[in-house]
Amino acid sequence: MLAHDHAEIDTLTGDLLAELEQGDKLKVFTRLDLLWARLAVHIRAEHLCLFPSILEADFTIRSDVPQYQEVRSAIDQLRLDHEFFMRELGANVKIMRQETASEQLTEVRRSVVVIQRRLTKHNQLEEDYVYKWVNVLLGEAQRLALTAAVKRELENIPPRFTSDFT
Ligand SMILES: [Fe+2]
Ligand SMILES: [Fe+2]
Repeated sequence: MLAHDHAEIDTLTGDLLAELEQGDKLKVFTRLDLLWARLAVHIRAEHLCLFPSILEADFTIRSDVPQYQEVRSAIDQLRLDHEFFMRELGANVKIMRQETASEQLTEVRRSVVVIQRRLTKHNQLEEDYVYKWVNVLLGEAQRLALTAAVKRELENIPPRFTSDFT
């Protein structure tokens, strides 16, 4: 579910970069606002549901599970990335709200390219390791509860973002 959300967010990032190329400020703003909201919802689901479930797991349950320290440092890194994404996107929204020259689009574009690059690495770390740890560290009941909680969070998006923006 979270990996599927990565794919959608990836598409939204591509759409935003395409609008930045076109240079229509209003469309750029709409795309940027949508990406910001979707990423915020995704990050919230990871912070509120995924990370606590993993960190509270019993690391002694099996011998083939990752060590707590490894898990802890991966999640710390992911949290730093999340802070970076939210800070950068917030700053870009602020730039777009200001009535200034076309340089603002160049500045936002530069930032979105950096975000995109870091997000790709971030999502890889999650999909290749962190999301998979759920399967080895949690029992079936915990996994089902986590899935339900993540689903609830992902569906909990502000209504103005649920319509189709094409
Ligand atoms: Fe993440
Ligand atoms: Fe993620």
